[in-house]
Order: sequence, then C-alpha cells, then structure tokens
Amino acid sequence: MRVRCKTEALVASKSDVLIVGVFQKKAGRGLKLPDDSLREFVADILNTGDFDGACGQTALVYTHKKIAATRLLLVGLGEQKKFDLFVLRRAVGEAVVRVKGLKVKRAAFALASCNVSGLALAAVAQAVVETFILGSYQYREFKQADKGVKPLAEVVLVTATQKELVAAKAGAGRGRIIAEAANFSRDLQNRPGNMLTPVKLATAARGMAKAAGLKCRVLGLREIEELKMGAFLGVARGSSEPPRLIIMEHNARKKNLETIVLVGKGITFDSGGISLKPSDRMDEMKFDMSGAAAVLGAMQAAAELKLPFHIVALVPAAENLPGSTSMKPGDILTVSDGTTIEVGNTDAEGRLVLADALVYARKFKPAAVIDLATLTGACVIALGYHATGLLGNDQKLLDQIKQAGEQSCERVWQLPLWDDYYEDIKGDYADIKNSAGRPAGAITAGAFLGTFTKDYPWVHLDIAGTAWLTQKKGCMEKGGTGVGVRLLIQFLQRRAGN
Ligand code: BES
Ligand code: MN
Ligand code: ZN
Repeated sequence: MRVRCKTEALVASKSDVLIVGVFQKKAGRGLKLPDDSLREFVADILNTGDFDGACGQTALVYTHKKIAATRLLLVGLGEQKKFDLFVLRRAVGEAVVRVKGLKVKRAAFALASCNVSGLALAAVAQAVVETFILGSYQYREFKQADKGVKPLAEVVLVTATQKELVAAKAGAGRGRIIAEAANFSRDLQNRPGNMLTPVKLATAARGMAKAAGLKCRVLGLREIEELKMGAFLGVARGSSEPPRLIIMEHNARKKNLETIVLVGKGITFDSGGISLKPSDRMDEMKFDMSGAAAVLGAMQAAAELKLPFHIVALVPAAENLPGSTSMKPGDILTVSDGTTIEVGNTDAEGRLVLADALVYARKFKPAAVIDLATLTGACVIALGYHATGLLGNDQKLLDQIKQAGEQSCERVWQLPLWDDYYEDIKGDYADIKNSAGRPAGAITAGAFLGTFTKDYPWVHLDIAGTAWLTQKKGCMEKGGTGVGVRLLIQFLQRRAGN
C-alpha cells in the first residue's frame, strides 16, 4: 500500500473515498466537522439522526461530483474528552472495514479531523497508517482462488497546513515501516507447521536479513550440541526436523552502541510432546513461534528505521513432537550454564528452549534483554486476549515497556515475580523443574526464565493471549496479529530519545 501525505483543502482532495472523523454529538449541539465546506453533504445524515459520532460508527455519503472525492465516509470518534490513540485505532479500524467493502483503490484521510490537543499529530498519523496497513492484511499464501483480489492501493493523509504536513510525514513514514514489519511477522505466524519448520524459519529469517541489511548467522544441530544447549536439544530431539538457532544483528559493526537482545520462542509446532495436548484446536499451535515472528519483524523495522542500538535477535527454533527419541516426563536436562532441569511436563517446552537462548544472551553483555513467547495457557486465563503478560527483574525497564504498551496500543500488564515463585520451581531431583502445576502458571514460567537472567536487566512478555485471533476483531482478520513489533519498536524509539 502506498502512503502519501498532502496539504490541500478537503473539497479538493481527489480520491475514491474521503474519510473524515467526527466527534460525538453533545446534547443540544451539532456535530463538529473539520471543515465547513463539507456541511452540505452531511446535513441530511445529521438531521435524520442516523449518525451521532459514537466511536466506530460509520456513514457513507455519495458526493455527486460536487467535491473531488467520489464518496465521503464519516467515522465516529466518540466523545472528544475520552479520545486517545486506542479510540482512534478502533474508529479508523471500522473505517478500514468499510473501505475494504467498497473495493476501491484510493482512500484519503482528513488528518485534521483527529487533531486534538494532547495528542501529537505524528502519533495520530502513525496510528492511522498502521491501522490501514494492518487492517488491509490478508493471509492468502495458499488460497489459489482469492489471489486476484486487489487490496487498497493508496492512502493519502490530508493535512490542513504545511506545519502539520511535516508531523504527518514523520508519523506516516514510521507507521508504514512498523505495520509492514508486523505483517511480515503475521505471514510467518500464519504459515502452517509443515510450511514453516525450524529450517524454513531460518531460511525466511536469512532472506529478510539480506534484504534489510542485517547480519545473520544460523546454527545447526552440530553447533547447538557443541554449545551444550541441553534444554533446547531436549525439546528438539523429538522431531526429525532439525533445530536452528537464529542469530541476527543490527548495527553489528558499530562501536559504542548500547546492546539490546531480543529473544523469541520459535516452536514451529507444539504438540506437547509425550505430554500430548488434546487434539481439539491443536492446529493453533502452529502459532507457537509468534515470539520469534515478533522479534524478526522488529529487526526488520529496526533496520529500516536505523535505530541507534546494537540489537541482537536470538531465536531458538524447534518442533515439539512425541516420538521414540522424545524427551520424557522425569528426564533431566542440562542447560548450557550447567543448571539441571527436571522435565515434569514435556509440554512446558518453551521455557526449555528459552533457557539456553537466555544464557547465550550473556555473551553480548546486554543493557537489556527482552524475550517474547507464547509461553503459557495460564497467561490467557489471567489476562484474556486483551493484554500481554509482563514480568521481569528491573522495574525501570518494566516501566519503559509499560509506557511503550500504552503508546503503541499493544497493552501489557505486569505480574509479580516474588521470591516465593522461585521456591515453587525448585526441583526434587534436579536444580529446577519445568512445571510447577496450575497455580500462577504464567508467573512460575517467568520465574523459570528468571533463573537464567540474573546477569542483566530483563523483561519477559507472555504473548499467549495476544499473538493470534480465533475470529476477526475490528479490521484485523483472524490469525496472527504481529503482536510485539509495535511494542518493541516504540520502546526502542523512546529509549533512543525519539
Ligand atoms: N505453547 C504453550 C502455551 C499456550 C497454550 C499458548 C495455549 C497459547 C495458547 C506452551 O508450550 C504450553 O504448552 N504450556 C503449558 C505449560 C504447562 C505444561 C506447565 C500450559 O500452558 O499448559
Ligand atoms: Mn507446550
Ligand atoms: Zn509451546
């Protein structure tokens, strides 16, 4: 999708549909439009009471060539005093749904209609562009019949003044890069287990790295064995598909940059292993590499945005299957730092592959390590589908992630990580165990990871509830959401002082 910004009068904006945001009507008062020139087209609608500006409400008006746009689409922004980036995204999302239904080529968006004090116009432009690109995404890689459907080709952000144009361009440019990176993540997420094995994930990562100018190294079975990554190998050995450790770097050769390590769980399919999952909805476990997808998407965006950090991505990729070579409940595995783990449940495999990756992260002497993983069903029970679970060992870093969550509209919610939880994962026959039962499952998983992150500030994001949708939500189609990309980039940009 092409994204442009332009300063022009709304009546002169040539497009198939001109989208205008409208705040909710206050009792006894009319609706406020950004521009009086549009009033004659909306008078009827306003008088009938069909549209009152409630968030996400839409009304389509044909303009009979009296203005340059063929159609005018009003979209309700809700009450002005409750307006924020979350509301904006929801409203624009409904406009995108409506525009998708029209099957038009060019849409224009009246940015000034959403320009309120307290919200930076660049952030508004970014959110609008992201919503258009995320909302137009369709996963059609293996659907032969639908390949011909043409999505929206262009969106133009129309600003009222030249000064606004500068802010709009900055926000729109960022938004396009970030949303396209999130859609790259979604492509990886949506690909089924047979089409995205650990080897194929590594190939896709290499391809992206090459295009984006990132350094990429991929370690195979021999090298992972040499590194003595016993927990990672314990998971991998149940499958005939060999594991891969993907190591990607942004600004690898630049000196004096802070190092940030991003770690993503890359289980390309999680059957549970010998502790087999129920077959109902097991197909969703193709999404168990969503942490990896988020990290790789973030790397693509970080490269395009030229973020001033040395960023390292680590993705331990494996398939968790039952078989004659699988690890078994009761087995004891040895992590690369020597820690021994008792496998209580082979379905708690994510933390096993992450343990070795988190130990590996130490060698980069990172200023911060952030891991993302579809780690626990318990996190879905705790927070549902509306927030990512957040845990860590450094409150300053945790607060920065929280702030990024609000700004990027990818919500996170912190869970406690008190010493008591570390007691819960002590092993009977080994140092620790990978399963502590149902109570506080998301937190004991966090404590397990926390065992390996003592040397650096660390944050863990459990995206089990936010990584994919089982049905469409607003303008987002079902399947992978690309969650984490916007959050990570927002965090990094803020940390860079932008
Ligand atoms: N990938 C799953 C977690 C998951 C479940 C994510 C449902 C999204 C939806 C993970 O590997 C897993 O199976 N975790 C177990 C841990 C338990 C055995 C301690 C779980 O959550 O049940
Ligand atoms: Mn599992
Ligand atoms: Zn898993």
